[in-house]
Amino acid sequence: MLLSHMLARDGIDSVVIEHRSRAHVLKRIRAGLLEAGSVQLLRDAGLAARMDREGIVHDGSSIVWGEGKHFIIDTKKFTGKAMMAFGQTAITEELYAAREAAGAAIFDCAEDVALHGLDSDRPYVTFTRNGKAERVTCDYVAGCDGFHGVSRKAIPASLQRTYEKAYPFGWLGVMSEVPPLAEVTYAYHARGFALASMRSPMLSRYYIQCDSDTRLEDWPDERFWEELKLRFPRDFAARIVTGPSIEKSIAPLRSFVSEPMRHGRLFLAGDSAHVVPPTGAKGLNLAFSDVFYLSRALAASIRKNNDTYLERYSETALRRVWTSARFSWRLTHLLHRFPDDSAFDLRARENELEYIAESEAACAALAEQYVGLPYEG
Ligand code: DHB
Repeated sequence: MLLSHMLARDGIDSVVIEHRSRAHVLKRIRAGLLEAGSVQLLRDAGLAARMDREGIVHDGSSIVWGEGKHFIIDTKKFTGKAMMAFGQTAITEELYAAREAAGAAIFDCAEDVALHGLDSDRPYVTFTRNGKAERVTCDYVAGCDGFHGVSRKAIPASLQRTYEKAYPFGWLGVMSEVPPLAEVTYAYHARGFALASMRSPMLSRYYIQCDSDTRLEDWPDERFWEELKLRFPRDFAARIVTGPSIEKSIAPLRSFVSEPMRHGRLFLAGDSAHVVPPTGAKGLNLAFSDVFYLSRALAASIRKNNDTYLERYSETALRRVWTSARFSWRLTHLLHRFPDDSAFDLRARENELEYIAESEAACAALAEQYVGLPYEG
């Protein structure tokens, strides 16, 4: 939707083909923390009015462990930039409103989506909708259909290289209409990782690390809040305001990158090409940087007959993807308990947390990556 919106601003038509219903897309709770570059991108795209009204600016996030040990990932101090807590669900609402107002072609509930002729200069996409066969012929196909979508699978396996890491735990997340902690706070604890985040001044988002076989029905709200508070230092736990959950879900954690992000006239963007574990909130932000690079490349090719950006799209996007993939993997290792952690692993992890807390250089490196690398010129 963001790519479609940005292309339209360059006078380029697009058709959005969505497998899910609009109601499903608009109700899903997804990411919520925007890098400085994502905030700027939304402003530049003319989509920031609600974000600037409702979003919560963060000059940094806290990491806590033990009783009273902590440091701040101080993005303001070390990079001069801030993050913004603003939900992907709200961004999606804004995008649908903007595209609808512009009369965009959006086909939801598309079944049996298939890509054809990607090696030719007239690729086309077929799908069925309301029982009717549809066909869209185009110049380019943007594969923005997520990890389970059809786009990546349309690339011959012999031309593709994938890198994958599965983690032996998931995140159990709760959304509740209660005031959040003042800051996004990551907790490392012997019982497992926990995270306090937010969507608005009256909407809190909390997560706890859970076993991979965890079942939602075993986690009524009371048990969740009790476990959450056990994982924060006492003074933080005392400030957590609890209430009924309005959403509760379990997400598995995975790292995945597929290269290249282009095959002929198909360009992958977002989760169709890469998945990161949520620690560090990089997933949505990477989708945004892909869309920035891809919209710029398509505009240069279509409007100015300049294919330089398009030719370099995959390598440019992947440089940023790998930085965030590595960062999310490192932060996941730093803050979670792994079932096979040895006594050495535990001491080394505590030592690393203490080292970061003591070292301005380590704090600066963390802040630079957390706030997000600038987009390449
Ligand atoms: C969320 C926030 C984070 O800081 C993070 O690392 C992962 C997820 C969230 O609010 O959903």
